[in-house]
Amino acid sequence: MVHINIIWDYMGHVLQNSQLKFLPPEQSKVETIEILRYANKASTALAELKGIAQSIPHQSILINAIVLQESKDSSEIENIITTQDELYKALTVNSSKITPEAKEVVNYRKAIFLGYEFIKNQGFLSVNNIISIQQELVDNTAGIRSIPGTVLKNDKTNEVVYIPPQNKPEILDLLSNFITYYNQNDKDLSPLIKLAILHYQFESIHPFYDGNGRTGRILNILYLILNGLIDIPILYLSSYIVLNKTEYYRLLNQTNITGGWHEWIIYMLNAIEITSRNTIQKINSIKELLMTTIEKVKQNAPKIYSKELVELLFEQPYSKIDFVVKRLLVERKAASRYLKELEKIGILKSQVVSRETLYLNIELIEILKKT
Ligand SMILES: Nc1ncnc2c1ncn2[C@@H]1O[C@H](COP(=O)(O)OP(=O)(O)OP(=O)(O)O)[C@@H](O)[C@H]1O
Ligand SMILES: [Mg+2]
Repeated sequence: MVHINIIWDYMGHVLQNSQLKFLPPEQSKVETIEILRYANKASTALAELKGIAQSIPHQSILINAIVLQESKDSSEIENIITTQDELYKALTVNSSKITPEAKEVVNYRKAIFLGYEFIKNQGFLSVNNIISIQQELVDNTAGIRSIPGTVLKNDKTNEVVYIPPQNKPEILDLLSNFITYYNQNDKDLSPLIKLAILHYQFESIHPFYDGNGRTGRILNILYLILNGLIDIPILYLSSYIVLNKTEYYRLLNQTNITGGWHEWIIYMLNAIEITSRNTIQKINSIKELLMTTIEKVKQNAPKIYSKELVELLFEQPYSKIDFVVKRLLVERKAASRYLKELEKIGILKSQVVSRETLYLNIELIEILKKT
């Protein structure tokens, strides 16, 4: 029996949902045959992604490219819209003229890397780490909610759809239960099913005034790394969520009301499978382009060819003289000549931004743009 305990106001709007339960849920409810079938497909795709990612020589090429794309997509769920071009410029040019939107996205990127460091250095995550991640993201120190009044509304109708726990002690209890389950190495349950449960739980605790969605999405990737399902932060569900947003909200909501996990877990497993496949394709395209670019430079500009130079153009799709100077330890004059030569043979395209010349790896940027 599912107990639904909803308090309605005189207009029939939800005032309070049933109390959020501690983890773990009953295993039989989250491990049906159908769920297991989806979990299998998702973990096969993810394992393939892990293998392909390992075959790229410089992992930073992938991390840089994919983390930035994720930062953009995830922020888009929050309606922070930027272009990739604006973002790369914000990261490359030393200018204070960065738009507030680009700054938010850059903060998201910083928050991912901060979380990645925690996981790598500690091998677990703490509630304080989560607070630091959210702080980096929203750029304020408000921390865990201590003043009641936060409710979740339907964007369009403005109707209250969910009321998260309001008392700080209750929020802290739920978070401590959450983080224990998060760090627990569970042999009995597929980690991907567990991820779906954890994501629901975190969003429903909704511990912060803002940034809960984005923090939760960062916790997802860190969880995959913690469990060795992927080595580096390159699988993100945000692009899938952007495309299937209505369903995402509907299922979170449905799980709140009915306490039934089935559809929610399948949504998440599906998201993992599809995103893994898309990311595999993207990595394969990057790999191919890296190889053809190496060949092209060797053939058309053999005097300036070095593997480091070409790899730099992939780590920094928007490059500049400084980057070449630092990486190859050459004089500015030589660095400038290399970049100009690469433009001449059609690999880069220059663009002046805030009095600095940037060199864009056009074909790579095209690949990265595709979702
Ligand atoms: N009914 C619901 N139950 C639980 N969580 C929900 C529900 N509806 C939405 N959410 C979660 O709340 C998040 C939004 O919360 P918040 O505004 O604090 O986060 P954000 O990071 O600023 O926004 P966004 O997720 O839109 O980028 C959504 O991403 C979703 O994960
Ligand atoms: Mg928000």
